[in-house]
Amino acid sequence: MKDAQPKTIYLKDYRSPDFLIDKTDLHVVLTDDVTCVTATLQVRRNPATENKQAPLVLNGQDMILKDVSIDGCPVQNSQYVLSPETLTINEVPDAFALKTVCEIKPQENTSLEGLYRSRTMYCTQCEAEGFRKITYYLDRPDVLSEFTTTIVADKAQFPVLLSNGNLIDKGELDNGQHFASWHDPFKKPAYLFALVAGDLSVIEDTFVTCSNRTIDLKIFVEEKDLDKCDHAMASLKNAMRWDEEVYGREYDLDIFMIVAVDDFNMGAMENKGLNIFNTSCVLAKPETTTDMGFQRVEGVVAHEYFHNWSGNRVTCRDWFQLSLKEGFTVFRDAEFSADMGSRTVKRVEDVSLLRTLQFAEDAGPMAHPVRPPSFIEISNFYTLTVYEKGAEVVRMIHTLLGAEKFRQGSDLYFERHDGEAATIENFVAAMEDASGRDLSQFTRWYSQAGTPRITAKDSYDEASGIYQLTLTQSCPDTPEATTEEKQPFHIPVAIGLLGDAGNLAIHLQGTEPDHDTPDNTHKVLELTQAEQTFSFEKLPERPIPVLLRGFSAPVKLEFDYSREQLTAIMSRDDDGYSRWDACQKLAVAVIHDAMQAYRSGQPYIVDTLLAEAYRTILNDSSLDQAMVALMLQLPSEAYLSEIADVVDVEAIHFARQDVRKQLAVALEAELLHTYNSLTGKDKPFSTSAEAVAERSLKNIALSYLVHGEASSALALAQQQLQSATNMTDEISALSVLVNSDSEAAPAMAQQALADFFTRWQHEALVVNQWLVAQANCVLPEGLERVKTLMQHEAFDIKNPNKVRSLIGAFCNNNAINFHHADGAGYEFLADQIITLNELNPQIAARQLTPLTKWRKYDESRQALMCKALERILAEPALSKDVYEVVSKSLK
Ligand code: PHE
Ligand code: ZN
Repeated sequence: MKDAQPKTIYLKDYRSPDFLIDKTDLHVVLTDDVTCVTATLQVRRNPATENKQAPLVLNGQDMILKDVSIDGCPVQNSQYVLSPETLTINEVPDAFALKTVCEIKPQENTSLEGLYRSRTMYCTQCEAEGFRKITYYLDRPDVLSEFTTTIVADKAQFPVLLSNGNLIDKGELDNGQHFASWHDPFKKPAYLFALVAGDLSVIEDTFVTCSNRTIDLKIFVEEKDLDKCDHAMASLKNAMRWDEEVYGREYDLDIFMIVAVDDFNMGAMENKGLNIFNTSCVLAKPETTTDMGFQRVEGVVAHEYFHNWSGNRVTCRDWFQLSLKEGFTVFRDAEFSADMGSRTVKRVEDVSLLRTLQFAEDAGPMAHPVRPPSFIEISNFYTLTVYEKGAEVVRMIHTLLGAEKFRQGSDLYFERHDGEAATIENFVAAMEDASGRDLSQFTRWYSQAGTPRITAKDSYDEASGIYQLTLTQSCPDTPEATTEEKQPFHIPVAIGLLGDAGNLAIHLQGTEPDHDTPDNTHKVLELTQAEQTFSFEKLPERPIPVLLRGFSAPVKLEFDYSREQLTAIMSRDDDGYSRWDACQKLAVAVIHDAMQAYRSGQPYIVDTLLAEAYRTILNDSSLDQAMVALMLQLPSEAYLSEIADVVDVEAIHFARQDVRKQLAVALEAELLHTYNSLTGKDKPFSTSAEAVAERSLKNIALSYLVHGEASSALALAQQQLQSATNMTDEISALSVLVNSDSEAAPAMAQQALADFFTRWQHEALVVNQWLVAQANCVLPEGLERVKTLMQHEAFDIKNPNKVRSLIGAFCNNNAINFHHADGAGYEFLADQIITLNELNPQIAARQLTPLTKWRKYDESRQALMCKALERILAEPALSKDVYEVVSKSLK
């Protein structure tokens, strides 16, 4: 809980630690009542520190200190000072062994940070600052230590005892106890420490590295989940191979373990040699897991594995550098996923997420640069900006340098900083030194918040064949700086020039042709000034500019396209991402027309251009089915809200629905044909990109049909629900039934939901999808349904996955219900935040996000949202986490 005044921590105040801890020896005795932690630390003064008399100040929270001694001599009460967050010992030698004995109660720890119990097991979560809840320590990432850990527990209840590194000893003790000792030869900061004790089953495999070492791979789960580990294991082996091939990175320890736990605040954690995973990010089998779920497992397994180099071998100097490991690792896992499946689909999904949610974050009160200059609670900065925008920044470096130089830069970075705690400057310097490029202006991406806007204007001179493109950039106000204070960014703008028959060769005046593409149809412009004009020559016709191909920079780019130009890009450009993006733009324009009509109470007829473009796509059997499915997906309500100045909740919802319905009616024959051609094939289940694309196209066709007027549609959905052999088909059918407003639907949906629960009640992750399907139901009375479900045996507010599935899904994805004009949704969320604030501050702060966006709404909603925020702020015992988000939102 917060001190009187939560303190702000600033990057500019960084100082290196006064002490170092060379070795850390932990002895942890787990019993039902108290857990006793004895820590022996080899401490010495940091030779680099100025103050040679500095006291030793250790971090520690929520523990009872039983004993302290230095080099075997007890430290008297009068010689140390305890505060709620520190232990200070004033006079200490220059080098010594510090021994502390502490008692903690993991079974009462609902924050899921530090040592806690999840169902039948004990586990830990130490990033960012959880280790201080296990023992008194220098809990900061620039203190690296060699860890040895001994765990003692009841053998019958906790047969499996794990920690980082290698098992060095184990044995039986009296009274049914046993122990295991682990030693991690690699120095690491405390946030990478992990410990697990439980009755776990394991699947095992091996991986032979590029230098022919055999690594043992183990995934530990509850016995009932043993049948859901194969995909994670296969993904792990693919990731290990990929990191060798693409980055030259070999695994270092002889064993790599993953443990699945049900109660977890985030997706997973990269603890050295002992990754701890949310069950939702490791368990998968076709019957229980959607394609999206499979992809998430593959991506997260790879992400955590990649951290072994980008994060663990080279770690962060301080938490302001978080994106050093996270941005880089997200970039690495995104490229891995692109190589494993469909590159275009992966890119479109990532860009959608970024443009919808990260852009919204960048435009809201919690906006911060990729490297934040300050924070109150670091847990609040595990954000889309640090992760996803951070990854885009690394991607831009990759674009500017090219693959080869980028790889040389990454090699240099790992070579220079192996075993160290590094900074973002170190990373950029390695990239500069390896490539010879000056990235000094580029580093503004790390220090300036907000989404830059680029406006593009063009002109063509037929006589000379010269085409000119003028790009202007600016960046809106954000909490730390105004537009005027911001300096221009260095922005790679990848372009194409589209002619009547396809992509034209690009001759940029004053430059050599780009040899990366043999036909010279691809070019990366570098925008570095507030305004810049690029001239292209030898153009036989006026081209359509295809801008920001592959989404080459995280910006909003405006160009006044005609709808015909958009359909040309959609059908002819050779960049899949740009085709999808043009399609989105066209759909947005159409929905905007429909919103206009909705507001003025006029009927609206969908622009035939969109309907015909969709018809062409549906009829073209040569097209990549993944592409078709992506293009048929209308822009989400969340995206439409993000691009609006003032969110018109009802207009967005009903206009979008109307457009969807009209498209369904207009394209009924094509949709039915598509659906039928993809249904009932007796192919074995596969997670290949093609198979995933087929299912996604089939299910989007079904969704259109159910929301149209096809008389057979509900029967098709019901038929699919009953005969589905995989969760993608099953939950898609359930969701469309639940959301259908046709007369027969409610009774069918009710029955389907009941049957589904009966069938899957013992699979927690499936029950969570059942909660999501209902939380997302857009029919009236949504809040009542959610409140009823909170009383259901399947719900548990202490489990973050349940909170995200029910409360999170409702408040983030069900705008028409959550933002009901009566404000009941806001009051509901405030109530939940107040409850969660006490149980789990991290989850409480995260769930607050939809309320922080209040400035985007009409006056009446603004007032209601602020009232809810103010009620939270008035709570007497606010956590730092919630306090920071609420107070910054109200500023
Ligand atoms: N470091 C983890 C990851 O990105 C995320 C995480 C942060 C997990 C904090 C738990 C707590 O891989
Ligand atoms: Zn990470």
